[in-house]
Amino acid sequence: MARHLITSALPYINGVKHLGNLVGSMLPADVAARYLRAAGHEVLAICATDEHGTPAELAAVAAGLPVEEYCAQQYVVQKELGERFGLSWDHYGRTSRPQNRVLTDHFAARLHAEGFTEIRSTPQVYSVADGRFLPDRYVVGTCPNCGFERARGDQCEQCGKQLDPTDLIEPRSAISGSAELEVRESAHVFMRQAALAGRIRAWVDTRTEWPQLTRSIADKWLDEGLQDRGITRDLSWGFPVDPEVFPEAAGKVYYVWFDAPIGYLGATREWADLTCTPDRAEAEFDRWWRTDRGAEDVVYTQFMGKDNVPFHTIGFPGTLLGSGEPWKLVDRLKSFNWLTYYGGKFSTSDHRGVFMSDALELLPADYWRWYLVSNAPESDDTSFTWPLFADSVNKELVATLGNFVNRTVTQVVRHFGEQVPAGGEPEAPELEALDAARARLWEYLVHMDALEFRKASAALRSLWAEGNVYLERREPWRTVKTDRDRTACTLRTALVLAVVDAVASIPFIPHTAERLATCLTGSTVPAGLLDAGLVDRALAAVQPGAAVVPPGLLFEKVADEQIAAWEDRFGGDADAAGSPGADPVVNG
Ligand code: MF3
Ligand code: ZN
Repeated sequence: MARHLITSALPYINGVKHLGNLVGSMLPADVAARYLRAAGHEVLAICATDEHGTPAELAAVAAGLPVEEYCAQQYVVQKELGERFGLSWDHYGRTSRPQNRVLTDHFAARLHAEGFTEIRSTPQVYSVADGRFLPDRYVVGTCPNCGFERARGDQCEQCGKQLDPTDLIEPRSAISGSAELEVRESAHVFMRQAALAGRIRAWVDTRTEWPQLTRSIADKWLDEGLQDRGITRDLSWGFPVDPEVFPEAAGKVYYVWFDAPIGYLGATREWADLTCTPDRAEAEFDRWWRTDRGAEDVVYTQFMGKDNVPFHTIGFPGTLLGSGEPWKLVDRLKSFNWLTYYGGKFSTSDHRGVFMSDALELLPADYWRWYLVSNAPESDDTSFTWPLFADSVNKELVATLGNFVNRTVTQVVRHFGEQVPAGGEPEAPELEALDAARARLWEYLVHMDALEFRKASAALRSLWAEGNVYLERREPWRTVKTDRDRTACTLRTALVLAVVDAVASIPFIPHTAERLATCLTGSTVPAGLLDAGLVDRALAAVQPGAAVVPPGLLFEKVADEQIAAWEDRFGGDADAAGSPGADPVVNG
């Protein structure tokens, strides 16, 4: 059994996440965490809100709250939604917590001591009316290339051209609209990524098992040559730079992308502080993160959308490697393309698409979990549409798994009472059904081990389907009139298959799967059952005479009227969509 550290990209604090955010990081991370626990591994699943930076500041202003209060509120909202989605974190922390500040200071000081930082003076737009420096994207004006009047200082949304704020015609502040802008020099701490490129490349070259999407992004950045990067900003909301280490940059804060990934460690330390006695916390933290103190056998898997890959293959590893200390680096990095909404962007700023809170208003978490993960944008962007969603729910959850379990339990209860039927001996069809289940299960495990979620869900669906194939073959509703022993054996075997389905489905649809397993076996599912021996364990567990509690309908069909109503409410067309991509407001 291995030890698995699992993190998903830390969701930004400015508002409830949409389904695209969910399927690109938190949800697959949870499927993996649940799978590994079910397989008997030691797992630490960590997530946190990413709280610093301008978007948080601006969202707080819009909400009329001090930024600390805004973040504290949104943290609770996001944590609760995640829990309702069944995200089984061991800890959900905050990048703004003191543990992360200590670590951020630590890494900045280490980089400095190793010669990987440098102070540079950079010209920056200062807004007199706002009394602050403006990040590039908060300067707006007319695009010199296409004439678009609301181009941002980093890029024109209309023609896509990369811009500097000084390129804009009639520039003004996106915050106040004021045109009273000046260019001022400001001293910042830079991380010397160019000097770290050799180490980063050497490490990336050892990550031979990375999937294509991850690898190609890392290679592209390395091949183009790494630029030194400013790791401080002229803002007030963030961790202040340690003036003893960087006197020239006193008064600045660390850039959100510097302290956010350190938040993986910070949140782990929060967890250790919460779960251990003070004298043990450091050792527990080290056991997951320091390869000289116990983390050498940890398998570390990260989950994220493709826009996050450069930060996780270059920037953050650069921080860890540049420290000169033996920190645990990521082993498996699973990245995702975009989930689009009818081919267009999900957008937090325009509230376009379906958000986590909306989704749970409509249907229980398992419906969403199944649809999203079985259609995860692994090799390409994937489009969310209501008819596709309904189709997946109706055909797979309702007509395949739900129908099999319902038919089985109904027949058992009707003819044998609420218990596992006794009598009869397995014959060829029983042995063949169990063998088919073993084969499907094997496929499923192979794909889960490879983090291939679409393939894994296809195998799981086939496993469910074997139950229906078997019932059709044996027709217990017919044989019960003539051969009670045969029928008893058929239904007992079907119950075995249903238990296998329940345990195997835990990573995808944990609420339903746990309920089903409890109804059929009388207890919750202990960890360590989900491996190639599952079918035989289920055979041993389903004993004649044991109680069977009818679970009720597992899933309900999505009706045409619902689809129509939801299309109406959320919009079912792709206008106003723009090209799919990262949300325009990311933490810059
Ligand atoms: N908040 C970022 C985003 O939403 C992800 C941060 S991941 C971390 O894209 F590594 F910085 F934590
Ligand atoms: Zn333009």
